[in-house]
Amino acid sequence: MLVDSFGRVATDLRVSLTDRCNLRCAYCMPPEGLDWLPKPELLTGEEIVRLVTIGVERLGIREVRFTGGEPLLRRELPEIVAATAALRPRPQVSLTTNGIGLTRLAEPLARAGLDRVNVSLDTLDRDVFVRLAHRDRLRDVLDGLAAASAAGLTPVKVNAVLMRGVNEHEAAPLLRYCLDQGYELRFIEQMPLDAQHGWRRDDMITADEILGLLKDSFDLTEDDPRERGSAPAELFLVDGGPHRVGVIGSVTRPFCGACDRVRITADGQVRNCLFATEESDLRTALRSGATDEELAARWLAAVRGKKAGHGIDDPAFLQPARPMSAIGG
Ligand code: GTP
Ligand code: 5AD
Ligand code: SF4
Repeated sequence: MLVDSFGRVATDLRVSLTDRCNLRCAYCMPPEGLDWLPKPELLTGEEIVRLVTIGVERLGIREVRFTGGEPLLRRELPEIVAATAALRPRPQVSLTTNGIGLTRLAEPLARAGLDRVNVSLDTLDRDVFVRLAHRDRLRDVLDGLAAASAAGLTPVKVNAVLMRGVNEHEAAPLLRYCLDQGYELRFIEQMPLDAQHGWRRDDMITADEILGLLKDSFDLTEDDPRERGSAPAELFLVDGGPHRVGVIGSVTRPFCGACDRVRITADGQVRNCLFATEESDLRTALRSGATDEELAARWLAAVRGKKAGHGIDDPAFLQPARPMSAIGG
């Protein structure tokens, strides 16, 4: 088992399949994009499956989430999903995506064994979408969401990041839309993980503010907190239930104490935390003939060094060198 020095056990593996993306969300990367990882540095499909297999068979991983960048840009995704779903004990297999491409891929991915998807959707307004993501793709995202739902990739969860002066006025309309479509919406506090290092604590829309914005239009009551476990979202019943809305207060209400996550970046580095300052290189070991035992031991050592928390409130806090798109969301 992947136990850290605080006794937390990592059972949720998040694998970034690429650092590339077809959107440019302002809280993530600049309009011109980034210097993408060179192809030879990316893990191949076979290498990804080998690491996931070690995680599941030897290290107690129970849930595997594929992320990016934008994971739908990896052509081998259906094969990677199928190989993951064939492992025993079978892990939960999920995907965090911007939704573009799901109209084509939701059905084949569901057939390959994908259980569910989380899709980013920050606005319902085409102009705001273009301003925020620098691409005119709102229709593709909405159609992708519908395709995921139709393919049974449920519960379909929607992630929304609110930015001051950009889309904060859309909190209530987004919730109304998601309730109507049967998606579970979660609002996420913006974290200091953008490539531009433009995040400012004072400017961030906090969980409290988000709840305030929603309470003008909806009656919210806290759902049973015992059901939360290690999940990042605090859940609220909307207008008495049964539908719910989540708030992920990563910054002001951190859930680090219950964190059960470990990450592998697209270039094969283990990261024990989104905010880790160090990574452990599995790719070099993998490519120089390490055995499964050796890879598992290296992975465990990386998890042992996990810090207690993200430390954003520490005056000495330094934003990680890698942005969210390279770490995996
Ligand atoms: P499920 O609820 O199981 O579907 O997973 P999830 O909420 O972790 O999935 P998703 O990939 O959609 O992540 C949603 C948001 O949670 C991300 O955008 C992050 O803001 C936040 N998040 C995910 N993992 C971490 C983490 O390790 N630490 C912190 N602080 N936030 C995280
Ligand atoms: N802060 C919070 N959430 C972010 N995401 C991307 N960048 C940030 C950030 N700086 C979200 C995306 C996506 C998920 C993987 O992470 O909206 O839903
Ligand atoms: Fe792409 Fe996701 Fe970053 Fe948006 S948040 S630019 S969808 S990687």
